[in-house]
Amino acid sequence: MDRQTLIRAAIDALPASYAPYSRFHVAAALLCKDGSVYTGVNIENAAYSATVCAERSAFFRAVNEGKREFESIVICGGINGEITDYCAPCGVCRQVMREFCDPASFKIILARSEDDYREFTLEELLPMSFGPDNLREPHRKT
Ligand code: THU
Repeated sequence: MDRQTLIRAAIDALPASYAPYSRFHVAAALLCKDGSVYTGVNIENAAYSATVCAERSAFFRAVNEGKREFESIVICGGINGEITDYCAPCGVCRQVMREFCDPASFKIILARSEDDYREFTLEELLPMSFGPDNLREPHRKT
């Protein structure tokens, strides 16, 4: 799937964002290695800390459907749903990506439009990360 199609999926998902408190609307489109796409939006809550970001919405939808392998994610958003700048993922969402994605190859695409975007690897946005490998028992030589 090309970048433009994935960006279009994120932009099209943006109206579903529920952000009555911050009015900062965000949408994400997550591309799985099998070619399927899961979109997600931020869903705010009157008890603010119960809010979930667009990126995690997309990841949790995909994982709930049994997906575990991911290629890239597009993120877009802005105040009142107007995309004026690149919208970078928060630290918690970067850590959720780290659980399922290879830091060196997973692409995070911050889009202002279908042909105006910036692309990073997860490793670039989350260097020296803590991940599933850290919790594996070391193989000790006997
Ligand atoms: N937000 C996201 O959905 N993704 C991000 O990466 C940044 C922040 C949302 C959370 C909250 O609903 C609003 O943007 C303002 O923080």
